[in-house]
Amino acid sequence: MSDVPTAPTADSAPSRKEVWKMFDRIAHRYDVLNRSLSFGRDVAWRKRLRKHLPKDRPILLVDLATGTADQILFLLDGEAEIDAARGYDLSEGMLSLGREKISKRGLEEKITLYTGDAQEVPAESGIADVVTISFGIRNVEHVPTALTEMRRLLKPGGKLCILEFSIPPNPVVRSGYFFYFRHILPKLGGWVSGDSYAYNYLNKTVESFPCGEAFCTLMREAGFEFVQEERYTFGVATLYTGVKPEGTHA
Ligand SMILES: C[S@@+](CC[C@H](N)C(=O)[O-])C[C@H]1O[C@@H](n2cnc3c(N)ncnc32)[C@H](O)[C@@H]1O
Repeated sequence: MSDVPTAPTADSAPSRKEVWKMFDRIAHRYDVLNRSLSFGRDVAWRKRLRKHLPKDRPILLVDLATGTADQILFLLDGEAEIDAARGYDLSEGMLSLGREKISKRGLEEKITLYTGDAQEVPAESGIADVVTISFGIRNVEHVPTALTEMRRLLKPGGKLCILEFSIPPNPVVRSGYFFYFRHILPKLGGWVSGDSYAYNYLNKTVESFPCGEAFCTLMREAGFEFVQEERYTFGVATLYTGVKPEGTHA
């Protein structure tokens, strides 16, 4: 058991090393906990991402840290014409639940899930019209490496959409949010999933992850242009978008 990340102390940023092993443990309860602990807001946030997809041509979508493929499935129900979607994750437990959902909807021809690290994706360069990563980027060990990898996967002019938790800017909302994330969510999540470490980890990663302008700067440093942020639900979640410049191939 020593290879499973140890519980973070109150004031430390948690180790992201091999965190996917934790998702293997909570996979069976992941979707239901997502819906209930976010009061269903995660569905609304995932749907908002749809309007950022190009609608003028068929697209190849790559979704990193895809988990149980929720984000792909919500995008497929939107207006964009998704020709094919590939999802990558390191947790076999999450991927196998994702494959079940895909097969129940008869979408095996369209969506394929692969084992793959968001920092070193086993896929060719320049294949994707859109790369997405929802609630995944804060789990990777080295964010700049993952962002560079996302740029590599995109075609020139392709779009990156990153959905992630963030810290609400309003101090009153923020204190309620911290109370919920620090005291309520770890207890409820731990109780339902049987893994209290996992939901304590969630709050630590959110609080120690750069958000807003700090994250936009990381995207620009990784070579994205037209970087924008869109805050949802008082800034509890933020969608970051950026474009791989035309004429660049790396
Ligand atoms: C909070 S879940 C998000 C899952 C999914 N994207 C969603 O929207 O529900 C985070 C996911 O990141 C995966 N993960 C963590 N580190 C990873 C890495 N380095 N490469 C790929 N996936 C990773 C975990 O296995 C887990 O499935």
